[in-house]
Amino acid sequence: MEDVIVRMARELGEYVIERRRDFHMYPELKYEEYRTSEAVASELRKSGYEVRRAAGTGVIGVLRCGEGPVVALRADMDALPIQEENDVPYRSRVPGKMHACGHDAHTAMLLGAARILASIKGSLKGTIKLIFQPAEEGGLGAKKIVEEGHLDDVDAVFGIHVSADLPAGCVGVKEGPLLAAADSFTVRIRGKGGHGAAPHQAIDPVVAAADIINAYQKIVSREVSHLNPVIISVTQVTAGTTFNVIPQEAVMRGTIRTLDEDARTYVLRRMKEVTEGYAKAMRCSGEFIIEPDHVPATINDPELAEFAKEVIKSVGIAELAEVKPMMISEDFSFYTTKAKGLFIILGTRNEEKGITYPHHHPKFDVDESALYIGTAIHALLAYKYLARH
Ligand code: NI
Repeated sequence: MEDVIVRMARELGEYVIERRRDFHMYPELKYEEYRTSEAVASELRKSGYEVRRAAGTGVIGVLRCGEGPVVALRADMDALPIQEENDVPYRSRVPGKMHACGHDAHTAMLLGAARILASIKGSLKGTIKLIFQPAEEGGLGAKKIVEEGHLDDVDAVFGIHVSADLPAGCVGVKEGPLLAAADSFTVRIRGKGGHGAAPHQAIDPVVAAADIINAYQKIVSREVSHLNPVIISVTQVTAGTTFNVIPQEAVMRGTIRTLDEDARTYVLRRMKEVTEGYAKAMRCSGEFIIEPDHVPATINDPELAEFAKEVIKSVGIAELAEVKPMMISEDFSFYTTKAKGLFIILGTRNEEKGITYPHHHPKFDVDESALYIGTAIHALLAYKYLARH
């Protein structure tokens, strides 16, 4: 059966590329995936899936194949607010919007797997759930899917992300921490406004803010182990409106990335202490606010990672490459709070074809010749997981 699945994935290669190009030409931003989700729903219905709507513009296809475990496969569908600069026949037809993270490929690969799984339905024992989620890019689509209860009966969930860092033909499967937890923060430093030429009559929140920005980096470099990576990036600083007025307030925003919960708790506590303490020392008041958009770290289940490596090795469809943890985050992690999960990296870089630009770049692209590998891995993992249990 494994060979049959791989053969079908190869045969569906053209279909997957055609779907991917269609999604690429008509990108939709988070929670606006109307056209994309309609296309997905219609394809799923054609293959005999029970189709549900989820998280607004998401789609879930369910294939019941008798008693057995429930395995979920996930793709994300949203694009980014980027003007595409690629000169390719399938370039984005929508000004200012582009699939620059490969979610078009994810959706297309999973549609390919949907066809394979439907055609081998008789050999499956259990339930397949195909999750086409909206709003991965800063919209927490996965969180909504989980909150709506779609993961409650799921035993294992697999996701695949294309990667511009890995050559086409390579697949990265890593157990344990893969992607970071992300937290956003806002800091407000309040002082006392005044004339720029009379700072002694004012309390300058800008100077305090500058000290606080530097103090955060000392938490990273002096207080947490360098073997347990932590990133604090202040990415926005706003204060004042003109040359000669000391403002009342300085506001900063930024992101915190951590790989484990202990480090996260520690850093959040210390940033609050540093903010309030430094502000006070500079006669200001400081407030440290953690925004509610927390994304957990993506921690791959070791058993599923071992299982996936064996499956991929046994069919010889791709080379297993080593992947290191990355400090980007992915809302796939919300699924792993409900079920065992594995997030796999699929290489789509190709130097010869000039496909080398990083994700979220106006010239990002994927080597489409690798997409059938993703289709095959999706279908193989679902088939083997159900067969094993
Ligand atoms: Ni992405």
